[in-house]
Amino acid sequence: MAFSLVPYSLTLPILCLAICSLSLTYSAFTSQDYNDALGKSILFFEGQRSGKLPPDQRLKWRADSGLSDGSSSYVDLVGGYYDAGDNVKFGLPMAFTTTLLAWSVIEFGSSMQSQIQNARSAIRWSTDYLLKAATATPGTLYVQLGDPNKDHQCWERPEDMDTPRNVYKVTTQSPGSDVAAETAAALAAASIVFHDSDPSYSTKLLQTAMKVFDFADKYRGSYSDSLNSVVCPFYCSYSGYHDELLWGASWIHRASQNASYLAYIQSNGHTLGADDDDYSFSWDDKRAGTKVLLSKGFLEKNIQEFELYKAHSDNYICSLIPGSPNFQAQYTPGGLLYKGSESNLQYVTSSAFLLLTYAKYLSSNGGVASCGSSTVTAQKLISQAQKQVDYILGNNPAKMSYMVGFGQRYPLYVHHRGSSIPSVNAHPDHIGCNDGFQYLHSGSPNPNVLVGAILGGPDSSDNFADDRNNYQQSEPATYINAPFVGAVAFFSAKSTAT
Ligand SMILES: *[C@@H]1O[C@H](CO)[C@@H](O)[C@H](O)[C@H]1NC(C)=O
Repeated sequence: MAFSLVPYSLTLPILCLAICSLSLTYSAFTSQDYNDALGKSILFFEGQRSGKLPPDQRLKWRADSGLSDGSSSYVDLVGGYYDAGDNVKFGLPMAFTTTLLAWSVIEFGSSMQSQIQNARSAIRWSTDYLLKAATATPGTLYVQLGDPNKDHQCWERPEDMDTPRNVYKVTTQSPGSDVAAETAAALAAASIVFHDSDPSYSTKLLQTAMKVFDFADKYRGSYSDSLNSVVCPFYCSYSGYHDELLWGASWIHRASQNASYLAYIQSNGHTLGADDDDYSFSWDDKRAGTKVLLSKGFLEKNIQEFELYKAHSDNYICSLIPGSPNFQAQYTPGGLLYKGSESNLQYVTSSAFLLLTYAKYLSSNGGVASCGSSTVTAQKLISQAQKQVDYILGNNPAKMSYMVGFGQRYPLYVHHRGSSIPSVNAHPDHIGCNDGFQYLHSGSPNPNVLVGAILGGPDSSDNFADDRNNYQQSEPATYINAPFVGAVAFFSAKSTAT
């Protein structure tokens, strides 16, 4: 990839200036660059795998881990993903990650070319686990593996893990509608992904999604109240469970086209957040994503009941567009969406994905979002998303790629236990809880490159400290990458800058 300081439009031949009037936005990257980033963004998930690794595992510095997960409760909960730089399997972000990976494939899988199989494998690694978690014990959803407080007191490779692998669950008596409805959303979205390639798996996913949703809806409560210090402050459900119930129902409706979910959305939408304007989309708060998801029904199928969601999608989208009357967002001087100091890039990738998805839905219906008295074109949404994707990949004031292993300069001191400690293949002897801290504090770069990981990212002034202790900036997370997979796939299929 090459960074040119000359605006693209000035370098184009006159002929092209005449006929390429829609493609004058400058981009630092070629479709090959985006394609490279797409492959890496999916490869990252192999570094987060828990369980027995298959022979085709490509990140070779990882090995089997968590092979007894669930045994203390006499259930098989082997598999799934570690959320970030530690060794806990947190159900809420894992399910959200899965939903967004699946949504990425649903909207932009046709642009993934040779990566589509890897993308499906990344989803299946999670859905195999979520199916076990949802079906092992009637009336129970297993939602977390590992005591997070004990885990965080150690700096250990997952392969060496000897901290308590406590099993946490939600039940009819101690409910968790948030984590359960997100799990239902993940299973339903994945059922669409596997609809053609593995119909029986797809059916199983959808049937399980409906059961888990029913459980979420019937036994209402937040898992933060049921599980307290085990999930808070790690993945506390700050937004409550209403947003997940509407999101879960919306995904099952999309996957099944079953009228009872349409009726559910109609009769419960208003009490579950349909009228709110909310400007963040994350593992905690699903409201903006639900608006965009349901807007498709209005824009493409003219389902009148969903017009409301189109209006609120417009409000969300307009909030991101500088110059729009409803503009609400903060951008760094270098042009990065900035929501907060901790893992900020999660909001950047999720909003870039929503911009592109909404642009796609709009294109079938007039192609513009309404922002107060003005309109914003789908093309504008695409170029706004592209700026964010390009920033992440290195077109930024620090000239730093925030995707590990992509480009000339990327972070070397990633806050990730497995990546920072020598591989079990290079150093087979056990490295215990406290012995690992020498690697956290080491001045040397991580010995294992966690290829494709997108980290928390820079601060509000575009500054980034490549420092393992600075977890707010240097920790990866599955839910940062998941929506990026779809966004970068979109650009990988464009032969010229948009
Ligand atoms: C639609 O969903 C409801 C609720 O889950 C279920 O009872 C019903 O059997 C479904 N209908 C069809 C045709 O699948």
